Amino acid sequence: MTVDLELSVNGRPYPLSVDTRETLLDTLRERLGLAGAKKGCDHGQCGACTVLVDGRRVTACLTLTVTVDDRPITTVEGLEGPGGLHPLQKAFIEHDAFQCGYCTPGQLCSAAGMLEEADRGWPSAVTADVAADRPVLDEEEIRERMSGNLCRCGAYPGIVAAIAEVSR
Ligand code: FES
Ligand code: FES
Repeated sequence: MTVDLELSVNGRPYPLSVDTRETLLDTLRERLGLAGAKKGCDHGQCGACTVLVDGRRVTACLTLTVTVDDRPITTVEGLEGPGGLHPLQKAFIEHDAFQCGYCTPGQLCSAAGMLEEADRGWPSAVTADVAADRPVLDEEEIRERMSGNLCRCGAYPGIVAAIAEVSR
């Protein structure tokens, strides 16, 4: 069964007819040519496919495209603004926060979503003061909040340092 819809990706409309079984990851990569989000596990376990929907991070491999009709989607290609690279992108470069870089698009989208969650005062499993307006994003908090994104070559120290710099 196919459904007509209009995706809004990085501020641009994409009218499409999609199979109801199609995942957002396949739609982005195979049909829209947005190959930033990577297909790692395709099972929701590595975070390589992370994108933002309504500003919140989702694993695109576990998201059916029909469920995100007319909702703002941001991929790594859309993080850069009119002023240039997103502060997270600059910090990742400065802190050498990637090696192969396969996981980097997901790490960047997840970091952007994570900072937004902290700004909203959302606690994590390691937040000491769950009533705080904004949890302090120390290394333990950053590692916990980014734990859904795996990096097989171990760039974690750089990733944590980059996010810590932007979160200050
Ligand atoms: S490809 Fe989606 S979580 Fe691994
Ligand atoms: S830099 Fe993340 S998997 Fe290599």
